[in-house]
Amino acid sequence: GLAPLRVGVVGLGYLGAVHAACMAELGHEVVGYDIDQAKLDALAAGRAPFFEPGLPELLTRVTSGEADGSIAFTTEVADLKACEVVFVCVGTPQRKGELAADTTYVQRAFESLADVVEGPALLVGKSTVPVGTAARLADDLAHRAGHLELAWNPEFLREGHAVTDTLAPDRFVLGVTSERAEALLRRVYARPIANGTPVLVADYPTAELVKTAANAFLATKISFINAMAEVCEAAGGDVKVLADAIGHDDRIGRKFLNAGVGFGGGCLPKDIRAFMARAGELGADQALTFLREVDSINMRRRAKVVDLAREACGGSFIGRKIAVLGAAFKPHSDDVRDSPAISIAAMARLQGADVVVTDPEGVANAQRLWGDLTYAVDTDEALRGADVVLLLTEWPQYVQLDPAHVASLARGRQVIDGRNVLDAAAWRAAGFTYRALGRPNA
Ligand code: UDX
Repeated sequence: GLAPLRVGVVGLGYLGAVHAACMAELGHEVVGYDIDQAKLDALAAGRAPFFEPGLPELLTRVTSGEADGSIAFTTEVADLKACEVVFVCVGTPQRKGELAADTTYVQRAFESLADVVEGPALLVGKSTVPVGTAARLADDLAHRAGHLELAWNPEFLREGHAVTDTLAPDRFVLGVTSERAEALLRRVYARPIANGTPVLVADYPTAELVKTAANAFLATKISFINAMAEVCEAAGGDVKVLADAIGHDDRIGRKFLNAGVGFGGGCLPKDIRAFMARAGELGADQALTFLREVDSINMRRRAKVVDLAREACGGSFIGRKIAVLGAAFKPHSDDVRDSPAISIAAMARLQGADVVVTDPEGVANAQRLWGDLTYAVDTDEALRGADVVLLLTEWPQYVQLDPAHVASLARGRQVIDGRNVLDAAAWRAAGFTYRALGRPNA
């Protein structure tokens, strides 16, 4: 049987809330700490403070005593004093006006834990941080709190799959400096490890870098195919067929080769920028100059969609209505951070278009962050009277839209497929001019 551990989780945002619930599901006695009382109340009542499939069900299980472990929530960091393992899951946002990540919250979390955790205990960093952060934190701990040890254990969860990615990840990366720390983390994750999840043991810098390198690779893969889309646009090819064909080579693989409006969200854009900034500090900036290209290819796709939309309007946005389908940075998420859809909508508006944005889950968040755009909760309302329809987030309900129904609502017959997911022939049959990215003849 499993020996449950007293596990603390600091910061109940996306990563922390999911991690805390999953630790209870794995059998541990969990205390989740955050400063936001409203968030804690929601979590304690089994409600997720953000849209994440499967999380409400899991929260209900772990808060109602159905799971093997238990979970409690607190705004008092002192309530973590008896924990044997504490995970730090606070954010590392991009600094205003800079590429670098802001590690203030991470720093503060470790400082307050050093003051309250009685120990002996293992403090585990999960936040995505610039390489070198863990060594610095370990040094601080050695001076301030010798009874506490540090481990770095990056997280690779994807929004929309956060629960399954946490309960059954592709791998565990344990950045540790002692056998005791490794053994403790193996106990935390005993169940998934028993089910075959591979474990990689690393030093601190490698553990930190695994996360950044993985995200840099994924961003590069997306920008690679989007660069091929640009070439296809110039040469008259079809990037979707190209992706299928090169993807059959399993050294390349078909995943993350979907050309379109590019990547957004709270991780990939910020992480590649922070990575470049950190490499610069380390004197290794040349190693990552290619990420600048990755970033600019990604941003150019957004501008390209605006150009296509203006063309579809006959050369000017003035007096034209654009229906933007999608606000979230990807489907099955309400996250609008650095969303290509929002930035395209904002650019078209700036150029004079009358833009209406809709999304099944993301409207409330978008409204909060970009209050000057116009939103519709209802898809039909967004489509009514539109001159151009822009598909920017591939929610299934948009992919499956009946073009004849859209034609009954829209004024124009122009559709732009920013994700290369619509059935071009069906839209044409309904009278639409169909444009996609990287497929000039599709
Ligand atoms: C990402 C990583 O996948 C995850 O491992 C890490 O822990 C956090 O960052 P996430 O931000 O949830 O996860 O989204 P992901 O599914 O990776 O998609 C990122 C962006 O790339 C989205 O905007 C998506 O639309 C875009 N994308 C993805 C493409 O444009 N093309 C693709 O082929 C794949």
